[in-house]
Amino acid sequence: MRGRILFILLIQVAHVQSLEEVNGYLGDSVTLPSGGNPSWKLSVINWSIFPNVTFIASYRNGNKNTDRLSRYKGRLDLNTSSGDLTIRNLTRDDDMEYTVDLIDTERNNIVNKINVTVLKHLQKPTINTISSKSTEEGCWIWLRCTTADESVNFSWEVEPDSVLYTTNRDGVLSAILNSTQTHITCISSKNNETAQSSVSQKCYDRKPQPQPLPRDRFGLHGFIALVAALIIMLIPITNWKGERKTLLKKSSLLCFSSSK
Ligand SMILES: *[C@@H]1O[C@H](CO)[C@@H](O)[C@H](O)[C@H]1NC(C)=O
Ligand SMILES: *[C@@H]1O[C@H](CO)[C@@H](O)[C@H](O)[C@H]1NC(C)=O
Ligand SMILES: *[C@@H]1O[C@H](CO)[C@@H](O)[C@H](O)[C@H]1NC(C)=O
Ligand SMILES: *[C@@H]1O[C@H](CO)[C@@H](O)[C@H](O)[C@H]1NC(C)=O
Ligand SMILES: *[C@@H]1O[C@H](CO)[C@@H](O)[C@H](O)[C@H]1NC(C)=O
Ligand SMILES: *[C@@H]1O[C@H](CO)[C@@H](O)[C@H](O)[C@H]1NC(C)=O
Ligand SMILES: *[C@@H]1O[C@H](CO)[C@@H](O)[C@H](O)[C@H]1NC(C)=O
Ligand SMILES: *[C@@H]1O[C@H](CO)[C@@H](O)[C@H](O)[C@H]1NC(C)=O
Repeated sequence: MRGRILFILLIQVAHVQSLEEVNGYLGDSVTLPSGGNPSWKLSVINWSIFPNVTFIASYRNGNKNTDRLSRYKGRLDLNTSSGDLTIRNLTRDDDMEYTVDLIDTERNNIVNKINVTVLKHLQKPTINTISSKSTEEGCWIWLRCTTADESVNFSWEVEPDSVLYTTNRDGVLSAILNSTQTHITCISSKNNETAQSSVSQKCYDRKPQPQPLPRDRFGLHGFIALVAALIIMLIPITNWKGERKTLLKKSSLLCFSSSK
């Protein structure tokens, strides 16, 4: 009796050949290798999920069925010669363990388990200007790189190489720019994947320009208009001085026409 139980256990252990790990990206396709011997001619292929063995795709008596479960409807491809299963348009819910049961025409039987991990592509990071300041040496700028992805590492690339800059672990860069166009790239990375965004910056006012004098800013036309306004204000005062009135009126008209 004891020997018989041991024998059954040994068969079951030998049954499960391997546990394969497969990574796929959200929305992409992934192929789950059946692990079957390529020389086998398969007569039964059963792909299932969950501990209660819910069939999702099967091949039996020459009939293929890949629409057994609504959550995978239209997304499965079963290769009846290799037994491999392709899942298209991966969703988060596809991230789980899959079981394949293969029987060949010689009645060889193997069961494989495949773990599918659904990964998400990294999103482009965002570069924001935190602060900038003009000094004698040039413009100091502080940029912050952010991303919606969790636990990524940030790194920066600055061109030309001669630009001085420092960075910290939190994705902040500070650099001194002059009038040369500078290309700044933030790279977020996680495992094998990277995503990047760039900005181009330069310093426009390297030295603060001397403030223009009030007279220059006012301009000739403004000056004339001011004189004209003064003359108009003087009209009521000179009004009852009789003869000078007409002379002043003439000159005020002259001023206005010249300021147009
Ligand atoms: C394969 O699935 C069918 C149901 O579609 C089931 O009747 C059959 O027993 C399964 N075969 C194996 C080897 O799991
Ligand atoms: C099998 O398990 C899944 C999840 O645990 C459940 O949604 C499904 O209804 C179960 N199927 C049967 C036939 O019990
Ligand atoms: C898979 O995605 C493509 C484009 O992303 C879409 O056209 C197609 O209808 C989707 N198929 C299924 C079965 O969801
Ligand atoms: C099925 O798998 C075999 C062996 O891997 C391969 O040669 C063949 O091209 C595949 N068929 C399809 C339709 O992908
Ligand atoms: C397969 O996935 C399950 C659930 O995600 C996990 O618990 C298990 O450790 C994985 N197996 C291997 C061999 O990585
Ligand atoms: C700007 O600075 C870089 C390095 O700091 C230098 O190589 C370059 O010549 C400077 N350009 C100008 C226009 O000053
Ligand atoms: C981030 O960088 C550190 C040190 O270079 C490394 O140990 C860690 O694995 C990296 N993390 C990610 C998510 O790439
Ligand atoms: C990283 O890339 C190498 C080679 O391109 C690949 O073998 C490995 O599986 C990848 N690792 C991850 C976690 O994607």
